[in-house]
Amino acid sequence: MLEISHLTVTFNQGTVNEKKAIDDLSFTLNDSDFVTIIGSNGAGKSTLLGAIAGNVEVSSGTILNNGFDMTHEAEHKRAQYIGRLYQDPLKGTAPHMTIEENLELAYSRGRRMRLGLGSRKEDEKLFVKACAKLGLGLEDRMKSEVGLLSGGQRQALTLLMATLQTPELLLLDEHTAALDPVTSDKIMGITQNIVKEHGITTLMVTHNVENALRYGNKTLVMSQGKILKILEKEERKNMTITDVMKLYNSAGDSLSDTAVLG
Ligand SMILES: Nc1ncnc2c1ncn2[C@@H]1O[C@H](COP(=O)(O)OP(=O)(O)OP(=O)(O)O)[C@@H](O)[C@H]1O
Ligand SMILES: [Mg+2]
Repeated sequence: MLEISHLTVTFNQGTVNEKKAIDDLSFTLNDSDFVTIIGSNGAGKSTLLGAIAGNVEVSSGTILNNGFDMTHEAEHKRAQYIGRLYQDPLKGTAPHMTIEENLELAYSRGRRMRLGLGSRKEDEKLFVKACAKLGLGLEDRMKSEVGLLSGGQRQALTLLMATLQTPELLLLDEHTAALDPVTSDKIMGITQNIVKEHGITTLMVTHNVENALRYGNKTLVMSQGKILKILEKEERKNMTITDVMKLYNSAGDSLSDTAVLG
């Protein structure tokens, strides 16, 4: 369970550039919840993920993960149980290493090195199987350098690396925004499968309102550092893109058409 209570993040406190990016925000996620987060530019979505991941300093409030207060825990410690993806498909993988080497690196993170030949072979089999599940043919290119892959293939690999050792939390920040619509759909499908298979508690930021309502089981609508609305169950099911636009308008926010349609 992820419990966020009265979270506030103020950048450049006490200066002329002071900016309250997250403003007294509270919500709770149950285990295996897959929440999508929408909101106009500057609403505080990335800041919220940053506060959870630990690269953004929290000004006040608390973040509890399964009862453990991680509000001020070092980012590298949280990285052992948090998987994170960004918009840029080039982030998260090492271009001059092979698919297999990238996966090995991710798999050994936070564990003792397993250097035995037997276990290495076992790992390789596991990687081939995991890649095959993506349906992108990566299993036939295990010795290829990652720099040769397309953006979509690379993002799928990053997703695999982030979830190979099931994380307690998965944070996705517009992770399909830089991909073409067909590839974006494919990566969304892969994301959904991985998240469901392992029951990973997931927070996914997107500007694509259609995807936000289609994937996951809850949608958090953010505006100016606050939660405007949490959509779930019937209300979410019956929600249309037009309804979401009205919500934004009521908060004085707006989204461009291109943003909405991804
Ligand atoms: N490191 C920082 N220093 C100062 N201000 C920041 C910093 N990071 C973010 N902000 C400000 O905090 C507010 C929230 O930014 P954030 O990046 O969280 O928005 P967002 O909802 O992710 O927007 P987008 O949809 O454009 O990605 C913005 O006004 C932004 O300018
Ligand atoms: Mg952002």
